Parts: sequence; C-alpha cells; structure tokens
Amino acid sequence: MSRHNYRIGIVLSSLLMMAAMSGAAQTATQKKTSPAKVAQPAPAKAAVPEHPVPLAADAPVSSCTECHSGVLSGKYVHTVMSDGCTTCHQISTKDGVTHVSLVAPVSQLCETCHALSDDKVRHGPYNEGLCVSCHSPHSSDFPGHTWASAQDICLGCHARARLKVNQKAKTVTTPWGKTLTLAEMKGWMYLNLDSTLTKNHPVKGHPVSGPNLKAGLPPITCLSCHKTHASSYKNLLTAGAPKNMNLCATCGVCEQCHESLF
Ligand code: HEC
Ligand code: HEC
Ligand code: HEC
Ligand code: HEC
Ligand code: HEC
Ligand code: HEC
Ligand code: HEC
Repeated sequence: MSRHNYRIGIVLSSLLMMAAMSGAAQTATQKKTSPAKVAQPAPAKAAVPEHPVPLAADAPVSSCTECHSGVLSGKYVHTVMSDGCTTCHQISTKDGVTHVSLVAPVSQLCETCHALSDDKVRHGPYNEGLCVSCHSPHSSDFPGHTWASAQDICLGCHARARLKVNQKAKTVTTPWGKTLTLAEMKGWMYLNLDSTLTKNHPVKGHPVSGPNLKAGLPPITCLSCHKTHASSYKNLLTAGAPKNMNLCATCGVCEQCHESLF
C-alpha cells in the first residue's frame, strides 16, 4: 500500500479514535478499519514483547503514566502527547496477554503527521525516517525534544570520540544510547576536530562552538552553517559555500559572520 493511502488511513483512524472517545463508535469498528493492519502485516509477536501487565485497549493516559511517568517528565513535551498514547501505540489484549506495538512502523510513524522536506539535499537519518535516533517521541529537556542539545546531537555521530562503533555487530551507538546499523549510517563521516571538539572545521582552526566574531551575534554551533534535516545547498549548508574554503565576500554561509572582513 502506498504512503499516501497510509496517511489517509491514519487520519481516518484518528477520527475514529476521537469518535470512540466521545462514545460514538465502537472499538470493534476502529479495529476492523485500522490502517496499520491493512498497510502492514502485524509485527511478529516475537518482535513485540509481552507487556508486563494486561491493559485495556482504551486505558486512559493517566493509567499508563502511573508506571511510565518518564515519558512526560521532560521540559519539552511533544504536542501530541496530550492526545493520548494510542495516537501512536496500539494495544492488543488477548487471553489476558497484552502486546503494545506502534500504529505504523517506527520509520514511517512520524511522517504520517510531519511531511518530509522536498529539498534535494537530505540528511541520511532524516531521509530514512530514523527520526527517533535524534528525537524522543515523547519528551526531553532539549528544544524539539531531541535526546541531547543540538550540538551534542551532531557531535554524537560526527565526532570519533563520541560514537561507539561495534564492527563485529556492524552497529554504532550514540552517547544517548541509540543503536543504528552500519547500513543505516551509510555514507557517514567524522570531522577532523581538535580534542576539545570545538574547532578545526570547515577549515583548520575554525571554531564550531564558542563566541562569535562580534558581540550580538549568537554563539557558533553546527546549526550556524548547517540545517538538521534538509537543504537546497550541498552539505546541508544554510547557504552556498566557497569552492576551496577561501573567504569570499559573496559566499553566503561565510558572509553571515565575516562580512566585516571585506
Ligand atoms: C502497572 C504498570 C504499567 C502500566 C499501567 C502500563 N505499563 Fe507499559 N510497561 C510497564 C513495564 C514494567 C514495562 C517494561 C519495562 C519498560 O519498558 O519500561 C512496560 C513496557 C511498555 C512498553 C515497551 C514495549 C513493551 O511492550 O514492553 C510500551 C510501549 C508500554 N509499556 C506502553 C504502555 C501504555 C501505552 C500503557 C497504557 C495503556 C502502559 N504501558 C501501561 C509497566 C506498565
Ligand atoms: C508521537 C507518537 C507517540 C506517542 C503519542 C506516544 N509514544 Fe510511546 N513510543 C513511540 C515510539 C515511536 C516509540 C519507540 C521508540 C524507539 O523505537 O526508539 C515509543 C516507545 C515507548 C516506550 C518504550 C521505550 C521508552 O521510551 O521507554 C514506552 C514505555 C512508551 N512509548 C510509552 C508511551 C506512553 C505511556 C504514552 C502516552 C502517555 C506514549 N508512549 C505516547 C511513539 C509515541
Ligand atoms: C498524530 C500526529 C503526529 C505524529 C504521529 C507525530 N507528530 Fe510530532 N507533532 C505533531 C504536532 C501536532 C506538533 C505540534 C505542531 C508542530 O509543531 O508542527 C508536533 C511537533 C513536533 C516537533 C516540534 C517540537 C517543537 O518544539 O517545535 C517535533 C520535533 C516532532 N513533532 C517530532 C516528531 C517525531 C520524531 C515523531 C515520530 C516519533 C512525531 N513527531 C510524530 C503531531 C505528530
Ligand atoms: C540528525 C538528527 C535529526 C534527525 C534524524 C531528525 N531530526 Fe528533527 N530536528 C533535529 C534538531 C537538532 C532539531 C532542532 C531542535 C532545536 O530547535 O534546537 C530538529 C527539529 C525538528 C522539528 C521542529 C522544527 C521543524 O523543522 O519543523 C520537527 C517537527 C522535527 N525535527 C521532526 C523530525 C522528523 C519528523 C524527523 C524524521 C523524518 C526528524 N525530525 C529527524 C534533529 C533531527
Ligand atoms: C544518527 C547519526 C547522525 C546524527 C545524530 C547526525 N548525523 Fe549527519 N550524517 C549522518 C549520516 C549517516 C550521514 C551520511 C548520509 C548523508 O550524506 O546524509 C551524515 C551526513 C552529514 C552531512 C553531509 C551531508 C551531505 O549532503 O553530504 C552533514 C553536513 C551532516 N551530516 C551534518 C550533521 C549535523 C549538522 C548534525 C546535527 C544536527 C548531524 N549531522 C547529526 C548521521 C548523523
Ligand atoms: C562555519 C561554518 C560551519 C560550521 C560551524 C560547521 N560546519 Fe560543517 N561544513 C561547513 C562547510 C562549508 C562544509 C563543506 C566543506 C567542504 O566542502 O569542504 C561542511 C561540511 C560538513 C560535513 C561533510 C564533511 C565531509 O567530509 O564531506 C559534515 C558531516 C559537517 N560539516 C558536520 C558539521 C558538524 C557536526 C558541525 C558542528 C560540530 C559543523 N559541521 C559545523 C561549514 C560549517
Ligand atoms: C557563525 C559565524 C561564522 C561563520 C558562518 C563562518 N565563520 Fe569563520 N570564523 C568565525 C569565528 C568566530 C572565527 C574566529 C575568529 C578569531 O578567533 O579571531 C572565524 C575564523 C575564521 C578563519 C581564521 C581561522 C584561524 O585559524 O584563526 C577563517 C580562515 C575563516 N573563519 C573562514 C571561514 C569560511 C571559509 C567560512 C564559510 C565556509 C566561515 N569562516 C564561516 C565565525 C564564523
């Protein structure tokens, strides 16, 4: 089934869910038309562990958060959390045994509400739908409920000192504990940063964090020059860059800070 149908399905199921909450529809109807079941075969039971306690399909959020208070404890809470856990989680209970799966495969779930960028240069993990490698689906103490500050997120995969590589298992693990396969990391590269991880990119000696050239300009971060998801410029830059990294008056990405030099 195409993604397009999938999206419609999700909207439909949300509507049904809202109806169910107001008591107008039956859970049974909702289940029969559940798009996740049509779109994808239900995940093998072995892949979804048995939930330690049996749950009712319509268990209120408050009952979930009695045990899972962590999902709401971050300073930045994903807006949809207020719509209830079953916006994303599907609860199925049979013979007193509960399995909690997702309403869509994790790599497609976020796209059901957040359309992917059309920009031609897309960051690998974003393009592959690996949103939860950087974002908590629930909440965190960082803007955009990322697992760490934006700078630490970038360094987590692009600084040799931060990423743990397991060649035997063909996986990498970020400092915040997300494990990805080498296949998912296809094309990734380390930066040649100094040992403090604050300089030597994009040219030797150049700061990637710390104070800016002039008072009043925000401190430098990876996001001073790069987009996180997608861009119409090479290397996910916010604007064009010079060919050989020489300063030039017309190279957008350098100009924003170095214009005073010309
Ligand atoms: C009585 C305590 C309790 C309640 C109530 C509860 N859970 Fe859990 N849940 C657990 C424990 C314990 C685990 C296993 C350890 C963990 O992952 O935190 C778990 C695991 C999970 C997992 C991870 C996958 C899995 O099935 O192991 C999900 C998802 C989940 N719960 C969702 C929910 C949702 C949604 C609700 C409300 C409808 C809920 N839980 C209610 C205790 C509870
Ligand atoms: C926006 C979609 C979304 C909503 C809403 C949501 N979850 Fe999740 N949840 C996920 C995804 C996606 C994962 C799997 C993350 C992964 O694979 O890294 C997950 C994983 C979990 C887990 C297991 C891993 C963990 O983070 O501990 C628990 C427990 C859980 N959710 C509980 C809840 C509860 C309780 C609620 C409602 C209060 C809720 N979720 C609402 C998307 C959601
Ligand atoms: C059911 C629809 C829905 C799903 C599924 C969903 N989101 Fe959201 N998300 C929203 C809404 C609504 C907002 C708030 C409006 C906005 O900023 O676009 C939001 C906001 C966000 C924000 C912005 C937070 C901010 O502070 O600006 C992030 C990041 C985000 N979602 C990530 C995710 C990720 C990652 C997933 C998959 C695990 C996901 N969303 C799945 C509906 C959804
Ligand atoms: C490489 C890490 C990374 C990946 C992968 C990633 N994001 Fe983000 N995303 C970020 C960072 C960093 C921010 C900015 C947070 C901030 O404001 O500091 C952000 C911001 C956002 C925002 C709010 C601002 C905006 O652009 O609208 C949304 C919504 C969002 N992400 C959704 C997603 C979705 C959906 C996916 C998967 C398709 C995804 N992200 C994948 C790192 C990532
Ligand atoms: C989960 C691991 C991961 C994280 C976190 C991550 N990246 Fe990447 N990055 C990759 C992979 C894999 C590639 C190679 C695929 C590609 O070219 O996009 C890549 C490529 C890039 C490229 C080259 C893109 C191109 O078009 O050649 C840039 C620039 C980049 N990342 C910047 C960032 C920035 C900025 C952040 C923080 C917001 C970040 N990365 C966080 C995995 C990651
Ligand atoms: C001052 C601007 C600037 C800052 C700050 C910056 N970058 Fe870059 N980045 C660039 C430019 C320009 C390129 C293209 C370099 C080239 O073509 O030689 C680049 C290229 C990259 C690439 C692709 C490298 C390759 O070898 O193909 C990655 C990955 C990357 N940056 C990640 C990051 C991360 C992570 C941070 C933060 C730690 C960061 N950048 C901070 C300007 C910047
Ligand atoms: C976010 C602001 C910012 C951007 C964008 C930026 N720079 Fe810089 N640049 C700085 C700061 C801050 C310094 C350090 C100045 C100092 O210490 O005196 C610096 C220093 C330099 C130096 C001297 C390095 C050294 O060894 O001291 C060069 C060369 C340079 N930048 C080139 C570039 C190029 C090329 C670009 C575009 C790809 C660029 N810069 C983009 C802020 C920026």
